[in-house]
Amino acid sequence: MANKKYLEWIVESGSPIRKMFGLVEEAKLKGKKPINYALGNPGIKPPKEYYAALREVLLECENSKENLNSYMQNAGYSETQERVAKDLSGELKIKFSKNEIFMTAGSANALNILSRVFNNPKTKTEIICVAPYFVEYNYYIRNYNGNLVLAQSDENFDLDLNNLEKSITRNTKAIIINSPNNPTGIIYSESKLKELAGLLDIKNKKLNKEIIVIEDAVYNKMIWEDNKFFSILNYYPNSFHVNSFSKSLGLAGERIGYFAVNPDFKKNHIDWKNILGAFPIILRSNVINSPGIQQKVIQKIGCNLTSDLGIYKKKIDLLSNILSESGFEFRKPQGTFYIWAKIPGIYEDSSDFMKYAIRGKAPLFAVPGKGFGGRRFNKYLRFSVSDISEEDIQRTREKLNEMNRRKLKSINKKKKN
Ligand SMILES: Cc1ncc(COP(=O)(O)O)c(C=O)c1O
Repeated sequence: MANKKYLEWIVESGSPIRKMFGLVEEAKLKGKKPINYALGNPGIKPPKEYYAALREVLLECENSKENLNSYMQNAGYSETQERVAKDLSGELKIKFSKNEIFMTAGSANALNILSRVFNNPKTKTEIICVAPYFVEYNYYIRNYNGNLVLAQSDENFDLDLNNLEKSITRNTKAIIINSPNNPTGIIYSESKLKELAGLLDIKNKKLNKEIIVIEDAVYNKMIWEDNKFFSILNYYPNSFHVNSFSKSLGLAGERIGYFAVNPDFKKNHIDWKNILGAFPIILRSNVINSPGIQQKVIQKIGCNLTSDLGIYKKKIDLLSNILSESGFEFRKPQGTFYIWAKIPGIYEDSSDFMKYAIRGKAPLFAVPGKGFGGRRFNKYLRFSVSDISEEDIQRTREKLNEMNRRKLKSINKKKKN
């Protein structure tokens, strides 16, 4: 019989974002015009070059005498692995060979596979994540009976080395870092990553371990102004790079991504043969392989082509101005299409804010911060500009003004009583 507690946990823990989905749909059905910042669904279409390559691939498949849509090696088409290895080598300035690239069904699939390899169900392995964090990590880790351990970020939501150090135990197997970060938009600096690598070197020696770092870089083509992406793979050998085309090309529904193992992993990790050998087998027992047609397209267009991501930046700037005027406090995101903002002081917490936000003909939806790692984030909201129109962002100014007026009125009324 299914584990009741586990199923209850799945249903309950997913609730903040799921609840938003439901409420937005309900509002539309009632004829309202929601202002929707809840979803992280890419709103920008893939570029023309993507569709041209897709057409070519379809014709090649149709006209070929052989069946080009049959099974393949579990790690993907050799030519696609080669293309990804070439582009990633240029991007990270690390020499990858095709054998270090594993094609997956998006980064969620890559993270699941890594979680399965590094979780030992017998010892209740611990995988550390930095809060606030992308809550789906919880499922990826618990799917394979692992324990997610939260290390709090510092007051600017950057990596806090002291907290990370305190979170490492004998059971720690891996750390997941996400930069540029969902929900904060922070990018970890080169010096922070070097400090993390230094800390892990010391801890590995002390505990006689080889802790793995998994870098989730799905937003690393969405970097604003003069910020830069740095990869932990340049500073720490026991590391993996996870990426996908969901955000950079707006291909979230097509499930195409990959992970890359640091070429130095083989020199450094005692168990590298078993680990690398397990990946194709886990892929086989999971999705079998990453979608073939999409792999053939990536083989043609590579990893550097993107949608017109500047549109997201324009919307981030527009919303930033409106939120600042309305009393929100936030650091402008260095990357991603999210703004992680502290609500104006007149509201008790984000639930109080949302009570006012969802009223009226133009209900406003954003995700309460609590859903990204607990009560420390009670006064935060995540705004996603990915799928919202500029017109709806403009409507936000009047909405927030009207809410603030109503809230102040209610505060004054309470004071008088
Ligand atoms: C931080 C982060 N990692 C992973 C994913 C999963 O993306 P994919 O579509 O590549 O599986 C997302 C999706 O929103 C994300 O925000």
